[in-house]
Amino acid sequence: MTIAIFPSKLELSTTAAQFAAVFRLPLLNELPDNPNLILHLTENYLELRDFTSKEKGVYVDFVGGRLGYRRQHGGGKNQPLGRAVGLKKGILPRIVDATAGLGRDAFILACLGCQVTMVERSPVIAALLYDGLKRARQNTEIIDIIENISLIHQEACAYLTSLGAEEKPDIIYLDPMYPHRDKSALVKKEMRIFRHLVGNDDDADDLLQTALMVAKQRVVVKRPRHAVFLANKQPTVSIESPNTRFDVYVVTI
Ligand SMILES: C[S@@+](CC[C@H](N)C(=O)[O-])C[C@H]1O[C@@H](n2cnc3c(N)ncnc32)[C@H](O)[C@@H]1O
Repeated sequence: MTIAIFPSKLELSTTAAQFAAVFRLPLLNELPDNPNLILHLTENYLELRDFTSKEKGVYVDFVGGRLGYRRQHGGGKNQPLGRAVGLKKGILPRIVDATAGLGRDAFILACLGCQVTMVERSPVIAALLYDGLKRARQNTEIIDIIENISLIHQEACAYLTSLGAEEKPDIIYLDPMYPHRDKSALVKKEMRIFRHLVGNDDDADDLLQTALMVAKQRVVVKRPRHAVFLANKQPTVSIESPNTRFDVYVVTI
């Protein structure tokens, strides 16, 4: 699905053109008659917005909102995600988040001290992440956390198989889209937009197989609590939270 970028004012045209060039997105100089999903560049952020609805746009916010709250009041290393990646005192693994999405899990892992490389194949989502990181770097409170996060805009299997022995991460984290049947309004706006944009990540089984060959210590897969295992592969252990399950595959080299 092709999404174009549109600057909200003339002064933002150069920045919009840069985004269009880097992420190979079409650039609009004016809103079309029937605008649907558009990457809308405002003075404050880059947002993915459905102009046919009154809902606010989706953008990456590492500073405030849910992530800001989580940073200040989050559960530390003992939260299920921290346990799933095996954080212990003095052990801070290098992680590739191969399905970065809006970067929430990556940010939480970076808050716990990990060095995280986010990999995202959707140009639209990668552009949102790039914009979120750029803004977050200007915030002195979280600059130390943001310095531990990098972004690669590439398909993850291609990225992982390109890594040399020295570059292989300790942990690969996967959170592919899960094919929900629920089409109700209860499905969050963000999820609806995501599904529209990136589909169901039907190649997630292959991504797990690749990740298992590349990770030095473990692969962690986030799934809805009652979902089947990815690739029907039994994990070494699963860590459950009320709605989510983290399937941990310990890799023996
Ligand atoms: C459910 S979202 C991940 C949400 C993320 N964990 C977060 O905390 O915001 C899945 C994302 O993974 C990306 N993705 C899925 N398979 C991928 C692959 N093989 N390579 C790169 N990105 C992939 C999709 O484009 C989508 O943005």
